[in-house]
Amino acid sequence: MDIGNIIAKKRKAAGLTQKGLAEKLNISFQAVSKWEQGAANPEIDLLPSLAQILGTTVDALVGYRSPILADYEARYEEDGYYWGIEPNRFCYEIMRRMPPVKPVRVLDIGCGEGKDAVFLARNGYQVSAFDITDSGIEKGKMLAEKCGTYVDFFKADIRDFRPTKNYDVIFCSGVFHFVPPDLRPEIMESLKKHTNKNGLHTMNVFIHKPFVEEGAGKDKERYYWKSGEMFTYYTDWLIHKMDEEIFDCNSGGIPHKHCMDLMIAEKIIH
Ligand SMILES: C[S@@+](CC[C@H](N)C(=O)[O-])C[C@H]1O[C@@H](n2cnc3c(N)ncnc32)[C@H](O)[C@@H]1O
Repeated sequence: MDIGNIIAKKRKAAGLTQKGLAEKLNISFQAVSKWEQGAANPEIDLLPSLAQILGTTVDALVGYRSPILADYEARYEEDGYYWGIEPNRFCYEIMRRMPPVKPVRVLDIGCGEGKDAVFLARNGYQVSAFDITDSGIEKGKMLAEKCGTYVDFFKADIRDFRPTKNYDVIFCSGVFHFVPPDLRPEIMESLKKHTNKNGLHTMNVFIHKPFVEEGAGKDKERYYWKSGEMFTYYTDWLIHKMDEEIFDCNSGGIPHKHCMDLMIAEKIIH
């Protein structure tokens, strides 16, 4: 499918007219009409905003499916929940440090099939969550419905996504290694900026250690971080937890090990 057809399909699914989409992008509706007729293509620098408005990714707009995306889509298309439905232990840390006694807005980045987002929503948090996969998002919505709760699930690519509102908690587990090093300063800055006073970032990231045999799963498009690199973005926040651990993994059916840096940091404003 070409980009014009993809835009038309996503625009209609988002309940937008050509004029409505054009207004959001600050362009003429004739431009949108031309894209959809195949008479012109959108400018490259419009693609990230276009993807965000249409609830999709730049890759999906241009019809590209990376091996990583195909791999996760296939995992999530299987029956059952690939990562299970037990919440990450960081969810309990969030509950302990910021109980939802007042509205607490959470963003879960790279939420997979939504187990952590749904767990937090069930416990009273206002949760938004995104992943690059359609199948993960669908599974997340199904899980939320089954649990009688609501999560604002949407599809996005962390490489393009920049928050447009503020959150109290930003949670991200096992995803930042999909962000190439050159994009990290801008993305981390944007996430920090869109965090409320005393807000928390609870994150872990795969890191490279020369003595950890990472297995065959580590391939192109995965950019493991340097040990300690995550913490360097938070020198102006209060770091409550800074840890590094090695653990066994059987993902993909081949036993191997990973090393992760784990962090909980709080935005303190004078
Ligand atoms: C190791 S899984 C972790 C899933 C979930 N956070 C958890 O802990 O169960 C990595 C997730 O990152 C998602 N992902 C990969 N690249 C992404 C990208 N560029 N933007 C958003 N999500 C991405 C994958 O689809 C997958 O769900």
